[in-house]
Amino acid sequence: MVKEYGYEYDAARNTALWNATAGRTTTDTLWDALCLRSGRDTLKAIAREYAPTLVLMPALACDSMVQPFLQYGHTVRYYRLTAKYAVDLDHLRTLIPQTDMPVLFLYMDYFGNTAIDDGVLNNLRTDCPQLRFIEDRTHDLLCDNRRSFLPDYRMASLRKWANIPDGGLLWAYRTLKNITFGNDTSFSEKRLQAQTMRHEFLQNGDIQLKTAFRQIFSTVSDIIDEDTIPSRMSAYAYEIAQATDWESIKQQRIENARVLTDILHDNPHVRLIQPEADRSALYVPFIIAKRDETQVQLSPIGIFNTIIWPLSDEQKAVCPIAKQTEEHMLAAPCDQRYTTADMQVIGREINEAVHRICAEEEL
Ligand SMILES: Cc1ncc(COP(=O)(O)O)c(C=O)c1O
Repeated sequence: MVKEYGYEYDAARNTALWNATAGRTTTDTLWDALCLRSGRDTLKAIAREYAPTLVLMPALACDSMVQPFLQYGHTVRYYRLTAKYAVDLDHLRTLIPQTDMPVLFLYMDYFGNTAIDDGVLNNLRTDCPQLRFIEDRTHDLLCDNRRSFLPDYRMASLRKWANIPDGGLLWAYRTLKNITFGNDTSFSEKRLQAQTMRHEFLQNGDIQLKTAFRQIFSTVSDIIDEDTIPSRMSAYAYEIAQATDWESIKQQRIENARVLTDILHDNPHVRLIQPEADRSALYVPFIIAKRDETQVQLSPIGIFNTIIWPLSDEQKAVCPIAKQTEEHMLAAPCDQRYTTADMQVIGREINEAVHRICAEEEL
């Protein structure tokens, strides 16, 4: 048995479900949301509602958030974030044009840090009726974000939260004009194939399998990126999502995040991006001086932390916090695959790696 922490979910294929759902997508809803193939598909479904216009996006946005809007001919401009990952309102206001055309404004609570208050959102809606509000809940889908403002659209990448091969959720509070969706299942099938290969690898340690599933995981998103039409969630993923005990996932994640946060809290070389375990529980993200060196020590012992994919020069020039996060953040896993004992291992190894690297620095 190989023990690894983080990285993509491994899965054994549910053969009965697979046979019952083969090649089908779902038109059903989950929590009143439209069920689509991925977070990207939900953003495409929003992007195609509008003739080419301006999209205001936080500078700390990965390509998968930006591309759907570019695919539909929109112009993306980035607004700055404060040191606490809130919207820099002064900067945002300079970017809002006086126009009768709709302007799309996407905001998100990074790892559960409040980006913008209800009061400010209400004022923006009054002052700038051209704005259409898009709330990205990918980082805090299962947690209470303590906000009552109703955006025009709310979306999240569901597949980050549970062991499903595909899945994104879209709540459209403004009626969608375009309601034709694709029915691709190849993305889901390919990812499930990689997940089952990883499952086998964790049992038998076959390194060739590892090379093969890594290759699939790193390229499978091309299927979504090359497809402009938003597609529905596979019936296979939907049925699993329906049967999932989300409350227990939430509790397990919060408990895991709490264990790890407590361990890292006293390390003077680690700055937690979210010290409150119950605000996000997607990952436990933190900033360290020597990120790449730390990562190099942790990966070979099977601790895989998530990083933000490279940002463009424009994003980094606009926002020092986005730049710092891209260069110095590691996000440790805290999901339902792991126990308290696992989190203690992860925490100990991170602390030791960071201390080793800092000691080398001082030599
Ligand atoms: C905040 C955020 N929104 C949306 C997405 C897109 O989700 P998906 O990968 O399911 O397309 C991501 C992907 O990482 C994300 O981090």
